[in-house]
Amino acid sequence: MRPTVHWDKDKVVMIDQRKLPQEEVYVECRDYREVAEAIEKMAIRGAPAIGVAAAFGLALGMLRVEKRERLDQEFDQIYQRLRRTRPTARNLFWALERMKAAFDRNRHLGLVQLKERLVKEALAIEKEDVEANRKIGFWGEQLIKDGDSILTHCNAGALATAGYGTALGIIRAAVEAGKRVQVYADETRPFLQGARLTCWELEKEHIPVVLIIDSTAGYLMQKNMISLVITGADRIVQNGDSANKIGTYTVAVLAKEHGVPFYVAAPFSTVDFTTHDGSSIPIEERDPQEIREVGGKCLAPPGVKALNPAFDVTPARYISAIVTEKGIARPPYHRSLERLRLK
Ligand code: MRU
Repeated sequence: MRPTVHWDKDKVVMIDQRKLPQEEVYVECRDYREVAEAIEKMAIRGAPAIGVAAAFGLALGMLRVEKRERLDQEFDQIYQRLRRTRPTARNLFWALERMKAAFDRNRHLGLVQLKERLVKEALAIEKEDVEANRKIGFWGEQLIKDGDSILTHCNAGALATAGYGTALGIIRAAVEAGKRVQVYADETRPFLQGARLTCWELEKEHIPVVLIIDSTAGYLMQKNMISLVITGADRIVQNGDSANKIGTYTVAVLAKEHGVPFYVAAPFSTVDFTTHDGSSIPIEERDPQEIREVGGKCLAPPGVKALNPAFDVTPARYISAIVTEKGIARPPYHRSLERLRLK
């Protein structure tokens, strides 16, 4: 598989995740506005992948700047446009802030060199994300036993990151360590990240996966068919509350009821240390039309009111551990996350 998103001289190339698994086509962005639109319309999605795409988008936008006196104005315009794309994924803001720091550090340089530094920074963000995911895999696979059945929600795989994945990275690492696993993938209405993307990724690598509808999770837990749950996260805050794809909270509550461990896997770029608890995490509301229709066909009465929050927040008390690239955080998270951050 080519990388989810990559830099190609003077363009940003990404696999179009709206078309998978039927078609494997790539979107080529030559303008930062196209990158912003690709994020908004979910050609690219998944918190770390959104962050990498935004960093590339910013570098791409700055390539077009020709007048030094317009440098700050142009940077700010591109930066603000990319920030407005999706509100919940912490990685988006983290990556843009990192690009801004690189801009401020190198602004004394000539235009050509400054542009080179911005491209270099975006490439470093991409590379470090894959490295972080490998480390998450290293720590996380220790939580998996041979023969385990693992439930996952949404897609926290290679497609959602610069490569390898977080939740699916752990599963990949367990398989690489010789463990046999059975994955259950929630379909994840309405965008069907589980059905379309997680199943596609795992099948490609011959990792056993069974697709279920979102409401089947409780039934499987009741029948002792799930050993553990692993999901990704879009934003984790100081006390460990974690935002992830809508429906994650439901799975976490079910897991607690059935004594099934519930793990969250994410790099530190997902952790928002400025926010104390999950109540102030911004939750994206998407177009209600997304849930009235399936595969472009309207199945509900066309004008019916519909509510489409894209994420929910799982309170820390439902989370058995948070797996990061620096190790595994256990409750209380305000202490364990801070300790790992300083490591
Ligand atoms: O709306 P999406 O597809 O961007 O939501 C993605 C998720 O909720 C993922 O689980 C999360 O971003 C973690 S991806 C490593």
